[in-house]
Amino acid sequence: SGDAPFTSTGHLPPRRTVSGLLRSAHATYATLDDGTVADYIPSLAAADPGRFGISVCGVDGNSFSIGDAQDAFSLQSISKAFTFALVCDAIGHTTVRQAVGVNNTGLAFDSVMALELNGGSPRNPMVNAGALVMISLTPGDSAAAKWQYLQEGMSRFAGRRLQLDAQVYDSEAATNHRNRALAALLRSYGHMSYDPLLTTDIYTRQCSLLVTARGLAVMGATLADGGVNPLTHERVVGPSVCRDTLAVMATSGMYQRSGDWLYEVGLPGKSGVSGGIVTVAPGKGAMATYSPRLDAAGTSVRGQHATRSLSRSLGLDLF
Ligand code: DON
Repeated sequence: SGDAPFTSTGHLPPRRTVSGLLRSAHATYATLDDGTVADYIPSLAAADPGRFGISVCGVDGNSFSIGDAQDAFSLQSISKAFTFALVCDAIGHTTVRQAVGVNNTGLAFDSVMALELNGGSPRNPMVNAGALVMISLTPGDSAAAKWQYLQEGMSRFAGRRLQLDAQVYDSEAATNHRNRALAALLRSYGHMSYDPLLTTDIYTRQCSLLVTARGLAVMGATLADGGVNPLTHERVVGPSVCRDTLAVMATSGMYQRSGDWLYEVGLPGKSGVSGGIVTVAPGKGAMATYSPRLDAAGTSVRGQHATRSLSRSLGLDLF
């Protein structure tokens, strides 16, 4: 496939090597025009399909970027991984596991059938149903308090205050009938402890938080670094929470394609429908890509190719 030979080490390669590999992966995959920009959330359809950025951040805080790595895009489903970590840190491994589960559904991220087939259990926190349950479990007596908890926690992962994209939020809030239905169904099964409409609203907010590939790589590197942000040196979550989060990203971060992803990339990853992917190499660092052309499962096409190639050439593949 033209990939560089796999050589795993305990750290990222030297700076010049990383920069060169990023440059060549960007040039190679920038020519791919497969996939389409998401349009089921109206404001996402306005994204420029040609944008493409890659960023890598080591646990030592060194970061490397190429292309459109400073473009702002909404986190979308990538937020689910960080919410999972924040809520696990607050309420514990066992409670979360009992309430949500850690197995793949084998079905799409917004599947209603998956819930019905599993007696109302979402099965994992990476699909929309599981992410909604995680929000219902978020500390806070009111919707405003829960939202503040999540926005502040996500911001600590990034090392700067993450802002909401009001246009993306309004657009999704006006059209998220399926997510409202999932929340109502979870409530009817007794799996949602908080108001389903308020829960869906907080979910829509977290999906609308703006990041860049560069900032997302820092968020991922915090998970790689056992919960300490490599730039601010602040502890965001505990090490065992990072381990749990990476395990669930490995089983379910790419939904029904998680097996293919792990087989090809060999690292836990999480996608979002605005075109971002974060991939974490425990103990080493993280990679983030942004390119809004998606495949049928809602994952960035260029991002998948670049991540697969760089996982090998940077020596990150776990296996
Ligand atoms: O709930 C939704 O449909 C979106 N806010 C997020 C979906 C998403 O990012 C799926 N992942 N690729």
